[in-house]
Amino acid sequence: MKVKKILTSGIILCMCVCLLDACQKEQPEESKKLYVGVACYDQSDTFLSEMLDSMKEQMNDLGDHQFETTLALREAAGSQRTQDDQVKELINAGCNILCVNLVERADPSEIIDLAREHDVPIIFFNREPVPEDLMQWDKLYYVGADAKQSGVMQGELAAAAIQADSQIDRNGDGKIQYVVLEGEQGHQDAIIRTENAVNTLKDQGIVLEKLSYRIANWNRAQAQNQMEQILSQYSNKIELVLANNDDMALGAIDAYEKSNFTRSAFPVFVGIDGTDVGLQAVVDGKMAGTVYNDKEGQAAAMLQLGAALVSGKGMDKIQFENNKYIYLPYLKVTQENVGDFLKK
Ligand code: BGC
Ligand code: CA
Repeated sequence: MKVKKILTSGIILCMCVCLLDACQKEQPEESKKLYVGVACYDQSDTFLSEMLDSMKEQMNDLGDHQFETTLALREAAGSQRTQDDQVKELINAGCNILCVNLVERADPSEIIDLAREHDVPIIFFNREPVPEDLMQWDKLYYVGADAKQSGVMQGELAAAAIQADSQIDRNGDGKIQYVVLEGEQGHQDAIIRTENAVNTLKDQGIVLEKLSYRIANWNRAQAQNQMEQILSQYSNKIELVLANNDDMALGAIDAYEKSNFTRSAFPVFVGIDGTDVGLQAVVDGKMAGTVYNDKEGQAAAMLQLGAALVSGKGMDKIQFENNKYIYLPYLKVTQENVGDFLKK
């Protein structure tokens, strides 16, 4: 008897939960709620912190208009395990869209499994998973930019500067002695940017001589440190510094500014990103140019895609590559057009 009672109440409880669940699914207002959980690999990254600021701002605008919006942000301080736990938390808190900036871009499986279990779509951004991983489920997307394009543009900027000023070849040997400061190993933007910048310079008829190459993990202080070591070895021989991002170009400039070199012995510096400090360095003539990595556009694309996924409307307006990728174009920044970017 007692067992029967328990069983019946169990079934009733179960039905109630199911009904409640069905009810919630039918409510049209539910799709108007956009609850975005953002997981970032490391918030001390200059480019990403500016991108997330832009995302918060744009999210507020979206909230004023069509959606009731909430954004929850977690940063993993460089640990994939921490990020896996944070994604679990975000899902439990009720996020209906996840934007994930992986710590280890080759290691998204745990996050994908979690999201899939709870049917929460993931928009990966900035740190691109390999195609096989993105194929694991149909609700996985990527928003970013084409690394090759940024490398080519950086090469073009450097070539233009060199062609415009014969003094850049300071020792007059017809070759440009250069060093590379590279981003994190294994990051899709590191090697590809370097390769394409160097090849583009060569294609433009510039004869190059590589003096040194160091990894500085996108980081200004590390780049300064690496550059100080390079300087102790090559002294005034360096004519061009190619950095995979603005922060590392700025770190290299910091090293020169701390040294005894006069400005006329400084090499040409070229960066990538167009962060606030990067653009300012172009204004000040410290950097010959940079390549704008469209953080506002990438943030907007994530929100547009997120809104379309939860509301079921507007997917047809989004331009995908291979149904999953959204790549925002890079833009070249020089002293002539930097003003257009400062307003962004
Ligand atoms: C940016 C870097 C940034 C890195 C982080 C790159 O696309 O150019 O500045 O540190 O992404 O993943
Ligand atoms: Ca030279």
